[in-house]
Amino acid sequence: MCGIVGIASNNNCTYALIEGLKKLAYRGYDSAGLATLVNKEIVKRVALGKIGNLEAIIKEKPIEGNIGIAHTRWATHGSPNELNAHPHATNKVAIVHNGIIENYKEIKNILSNKSLIKSETDSEVVAHLITDYLDQGHDYPEIVEKLLTELKGAFALAVLFTKTNKLLAIKRGSPLAVGYGEQNNFIGSDAIGLAPFTKKISYLEDDDWAIVDNKNIFIYHGKNKVDREISITSISRQSIEKGGYKHFMHKEIYEQPTVIGETLKSFIDPEKKIIKINSEILKTDIKKISLIACGTSAFACRIARFWFEEFANIGANVDIASEYRYRKLLKTEGEVVIFISQSGETRDTLASLEEAKKHGLKTISIVNVLDSSISRLSDENIFTLAGPEIGVASTKAFTTQLLTLLIISILLGKNKNFINDNFESKIITQLLDLPSLLNDILEKENELRDIASKIYNAKDVLYIGRGMGHGLALEGALKLKEISYIHAEGYAAGELKHGPIALIDESVPVIGIIPTNNLYEKTYSNLAEVKARGGKIICITDKEGKKNLEDLSDLIFSIKKCNDYLQPIVCALPVQLLAYHIACFKGTDVDQPRNLAKSVTVE
Ligand code: M6R
Repeated sequence: MCGIVGIASNNNCTYALIEGLKKLAYRGYDSAGLATLVNKEIVKRVALGKIGNLEAIIKEKPIEGNIGIAHTRWATHGSPNELNAHPHATNKVAIVHNGIIENYKEIKNILSNKSLIKSETDSEVVAHLITDYLDQGHDYPEIVEKLLTELKGAFALAVLFTKTNKLLAIKRGSPLAVGYGEQNNFIGSDAIGLAPFTKKISYLEDDDWAIVDNKNIFIYHGKNKVDREISITSISRQSIEKGGYKHFMHKEIYEQPTVIGETLKSFIDPEKKIIKINSEILKTDIKKISLIACGTSAFACRIARFWFEEFANIGANVDIASEYRYRKLLKTEGEVVIFISQSGETRDTLASLEEAKKHGLKTISIVNVLDSSISRLSDENIFTLAGPEIGVASTKAFTTQLLTLLIISILLGKNKNFINDNFESKIITQLLDLPSLLNDILEKENELRDIASKIYNAKDVLYIGRGMGHGLALEGALKLKEISYIHAEGYAAGELKHGPIALIDESVPVIGIIPTNNLYEKTYSNLAEVKARGGKIICITDKEGKKNLEDLSDLIFSIKKCNDYLQPIVCALPVQLLAYHIACFKGTDVDQPRNLAKSVTVE
């Protein structure tokens, strides 16, 4: 859950290391550090907090060096402080690490001099272990072999040595790639970190290791040199910059009409009005679907469940990955497990996928990042085309996941003859209208900003909805919590009276997700119960639903009337913009909220 960069160049690489780190800041920002080789000695700079702090320190105390490694940290073992910041170094090596060394305490005991360990991290032992191996006269292949035998857990490592101008990269469990340049070569956690330098990338496989200098990259597995495919990443510099927006989150909210359009294009033949998804598994006789994910992606699953039931008559179980992976998996005939992840690296989702495969279940993953660990392991993949999502709060990934799940459910309905060609074509016509429905909301952003200005001082906020609106209520509460630090909960509107209604008073805004559908009246009654107890009511509804809600609500935002099953996708935007503006009024760090990281590669 940290970001690592390594550069072997024929020029000073310090500022390039910082640039790479900035692109990886979404992976963690508790501390940052870098080390380069100057006159065969390791020189380090570290700073607490964001990469800007490290940059300031380097401006004050510049360092040079043509070869170096850098790290941005999301703390797991040991609190965020300078001592725990990477790189960790001895007089012979410096290392940066992403992952968790599970047996670091045992390793400490086998080191020749454990008293040299200064930090509380699980990572520092690796620098000392390599130093011991060097002292015993070992070279790369034996060092790697010994490390891979000794270390338990997940690790992506970049190692800088005093005795050579070469970097060592080792991967097991955590993602790691190498990038090919001209007169310089790179190591990076992912294509985003490498984007400022090169488009030519090879992803390392588990237990691969690579020797990188400014002229060559050699990849090995065990003692053998191996070829790993060089892919040309589609990630452009532009797509990972703010492009005039104050925050990535805001930019990403605004990209939704476009990326929804792109995702639609990839799954739909607009002329023939039919769905085209390349999947053998979806053609089989599916009797049960399990939807597994974490966080926002799991809320997309909760909403999608209704579509699988409605369109395909298939029962869908939803489980969060951190629970699923430890449950007894009871394989059902005709069961398919679908994993949903923006990053494709979420540890719990990946581990759940491993479990499902172990049990012989058919697996499909819906991921946004090509060549991610989840996509590489899954039997089949269906990619969302949201493009790089940098803001920690997921926005465009969520709506493209919803759209993808909706389209899959329609396809299954068709395969099972519950949906005929006419109905498919009618739905596709409606889907093609989505970008315009989303644009309509963006045009009314000021209304949401006004609502935010009236509630941003709240201490607690409740979101309520029924059916698919419940999933969105959960997502709304998560969005608000993570970027504004306001305590928020999402409830099924009908559950309020079973306890949470005790929380209601005039200081608690209650946000009702209430577009007109078969649950409108029921949700209305639940909001009336809140009103009767003095609650402040904000409704997200549509033009038709608004009329009835005027008396009940303190504030209303309305979307254009759309088909019921499109409502969660369309209502997602006001939910996101409301959280965004509340956070802006509060002055929090929208893109990099405290304690979080974009992709959670630890349990
Ligand atoms: O990359 P993934 O979709 O697997 O990530 C899952 C969650 O960590 C993620 O959705 C998280 O909840 C977001 N910060 C929510 O905005």
